[in-house]
Amino acid sequence: MPVNLDANFWNQKYLNDDTPWSIRKASPPLTDYIDQLKDKSIKILIPGAGHAHEVNFLLEKGFKNITICDLSKIAISKLKNVVPKDSVKLVTGDFFDLKGQYDLILEQTFFCALDPSLRKNYINKTYELLNDGGKIAGVLFDRIFEQNGPPFGGTKEEYEKLFLGKFNIQKMEKCYNSIGPRHGYELFFICVR
Ligand SMILES: C[S@@+](CC[C@H](N)C(=O)[O-])C[C@H]1O[C@@H](n2cnc3c(N)ncnc32)[C@H](O)[C@@H]1O
Repeated sequence: MPVNLDANFWNQKYLNDDTPWSIRKASPPLTDYIDQLKDKSIKILIPGAGHAHEVNFLLEKGFKNITICDLSKIAISKLKNVVPKDSVKLVTGDFFDLKGQYDLILEQTFFCALDPSLRKNYINKTYELLNDGGKIAGVLFDRIFEQNGPPFGGTKEEYEKLFLGKFNIQKMEKCYNSIGPRHGYELFFICVR
């Protein structure tokens, strides 16, 4: 039975603490990438951020212009009192309705949470939201899941085809630094608009 992946679906997950995707910290592929970014003034978007574990890491590293978007008001409400308002903008809503221009979009288990029929829309939307020369970077599953998603998996070949329509692929390779259970099953990628 196909699941309706609407706000209600995700709200229920957060209300029931049924969030198996959450690794309770920023993922090492992302933190290693963030660590080598020099310009702390860049405008960063984290779509489908959920618990937004990346935020504290970004703040610690001096980034001050961060936008978090999630369809789930429960996920966003949990962040309201814990992130500084002057550095972090919280948006409850659909990523596909988001407006604005960003320098960097961070991807961490958002792409795989979307129905695969939306993948082309995701590419077009990230392209629209990035400034010229802006980047999308993060992790994508490099595996096919047996059960119906989310998460929905995929292959490097599929992702390359999708991104190449709009982006230059600077990097798309197996992660060397995934967390244990995801070891061997993730690609780290950087695509440039
Ligand atoms: C698998 S969870 C990942 C959360 C977080 N990135 C993490 O790794 O812990 C997917 C998240 O995307 C959000 N989401 C799903 N569809 C969305 C949409 N169209 N726009 C914005 N957020 C969405 C869900 O509410 C959920 O928080």
